[in-house]
This record gives sequence, C-alpha cells and structure tokens, in this order.
Amino acid sequence: MVETAENKAPALEWIDDDMPFSPEFGDHFYCREDGRAECGHVFLAGNGLPERWKAGGAFVIGELGFGTGLNFCETWRAFSASLRGEKTPPQPLPTRGRGLDVALCPSQTAAEYAERTEGERRLKDVKEETDATAKPLPLVGRGWGGESRALHFISFELHPMDRADIGKALSRWPEIEAERQALVAAWPDDPRGVVRLQLAEDVTLTVVCGDAFTNLSESTETFDAWYLDGFAPSRNPAMWSGEILNVVHDHTRPGGTFATYAAAGFVRRNLIAAGFAVERRPGFAGKREMLCGRRS
Ligand SMILES: C[S@@+](CC[C@H](N)C(=O)[O-])C[C@H]1O[C@@H](n2cnc3c(N)ncnc32)[C@H](O)[C@@H]1O
Repeated sequence: MVETAENKAPALEWIDDDMPFSPEFGDHFYCREDGRAECGHVFLAGNGLPERWKAGGAFVIGELGFGTGLNFCETWRAFSASLRGEKTPPQPLPTRGRGLDVALCPSQTAAEYAERTEGERRLKDVKEETDATAKPLPLVGRGWGGESRALHFISFELHPMDRADIGKALSRWPEIEAERQALVAAWPDDPRGVVRLQLAEDVTLTVVCGDAFTNLSESTETFDAWYLDGFAPSRNPAMWSGEILNVVHDHTRPGGTFATYAAAGFVRRNLIAAGFAVERRPGFAGKREMLCGRRS
C-alpha cells in the first residue's frame, strides 16, 4: 500500500508531557504504569524471549503497530543484553523443531524483568534505507554458545510518528536511551512506504507504513514471533479481526509464537480459529489475563 498524506495521523495528545494518547482510537500506546516493563512481561516473556535467541541464527519478529518504537527499543536492548550473556530469569528450554520452538516462558515477572542489569551497548553503522527489497541479514552477534545471531524486527504501522514524537515518548526510559538516540537519528523526516534501518550489525528494523492487513497479506516474509499491539480490541477491532489473525497465522513459521495483552473472548476465538494453540497467562500490572500461543 502506498503511503499518502491521508494516512497521516491526527495530532497526538500527551499525558504527563511524555505519554502519547491517540484521540483517533481513544487509547494509550502502552500501559500508564510502565510500558517498558509491560513489553517485557507481555511481548518478550510471552514469546519465550530472550531464551529462544540462545538457539542462534536469524530471528524475525513481527509487530502490528509500531507506535513510538518502545517495543522495538526494549527488544533491541534485551537482544544486546542476551548477546553479552547477561543474567536472565530461569526459563523452559527449547523443546523441538528448528531451535525456535520452545515452551513459552511462564516464569518471568515484570519485577524480575525490570531488575535486569544494563551494560555497554553496541550501536554502530546507523544507515537508513527505504528499499522494499529484503536483503540477507548479517549473522554476526555471538550468543551464549558462540553461535551467530541476528534480529530482524518488522513492524506494520498505519500512522508512522514523526521523529520528535518518538524521541519525546521514549525519553521516559533511561534504560533504552542509547536505542532511542539511534532510532531517532536514523528515522526519516517523512516516513512512508517501507522504512528499513540497519541499526547495528546484527539488528535490522523494518517499518511497513500503511494498513497492516493489506501489507501483511502482500508480504512474503515469515515470522518467528509476533507482538500483537494494535490498541485495545474494543477501540480498534479491525486489528483483531479473524481476517488479520488468519494472515498473521499464515505468515508464522511452524513453532512460531504470538503474545498480546489482549484477552477479549473474540480475539481468543479468532486466534484459535486461525490455527494457534492459545494459552491464557496473568496480565501485566493487575490485568487479569493476557494471551500467548504457538503455531503447531
Ligand atoms: C498500541 S499502539 C502500538 C504501540 C507500539 N507498539 C509501541 O511500542 O509504542 C497501536 C498502533 O497501531 C497502529 N494502527 C492502528 N490501526 C492500524 C492498522 N489498521 N494498520 C497498521 N497499524 C495500525 C496505530 O497507529 C498505533 O501506532
């Protein structure tokens, strides 16, 4: 889908100066308590990360809704930390398949996640591309066992934010300051089409601008893990429809996983109908439930 001026988002509202709110959808971009810790609890732990990265190789994450880039920056931080072998909470070991099929991680709480140590960062070779053609991913990071690893994070976003708004929103978290600076430095003035940023030797970000259903339907990419983050189902049911979740399933590798804070009955039913084995977990910050699951 070609991005046009009509896709430009209505102006955001800001709460406490740095927390964006979408008047168009009537929803926050992440939970008000701590969006970074929520990402760790819901999206990383819900997909069995960082444990699955131990297997090595190229790992592709898909996201519905790039928003501020918080999930991307936090995932990048966790990926870099895992390459350095920083301590992670105990998690179930991979069970089968191509090394990416794992038992999902039930053991990582938000508090444990937030306590994880920070170390030096590797930020280099910031380069911007707007070429829709996927290039082979460099496999240069060295993991626990010395194996090569690379992360490709592909996000689908209807209304890409501008650089200033991304920078403002992410300034809330000193833990991801290096990732914020690198993202903001590389982010295009007028994001449209396919924005591809090689943010480190082993970390590539692609943001596909436009409607997620249309663009994912046309994509030939397949994904190891999904972050389903398209606002609350009651506020934006189109991002949770049977049609889009079928397409998500069809673009998931065997043994691939999804995670979401959403727990609405129709979302769960649509995920099951699409073909995922769906599990309920305790949600973040007092939310009773979240969902995660696997394609068999
Ligand atoms: C909850 S926010 C995502 C938060 C984000 N992951 C982050 O880390 O900040 C939901 C996002 O979904 C986007 N969105 C809503 N409808 C969409 C659609 N049909 N296609 C693609 N993106 C959509 C919104 O513009 C918004 O940025």
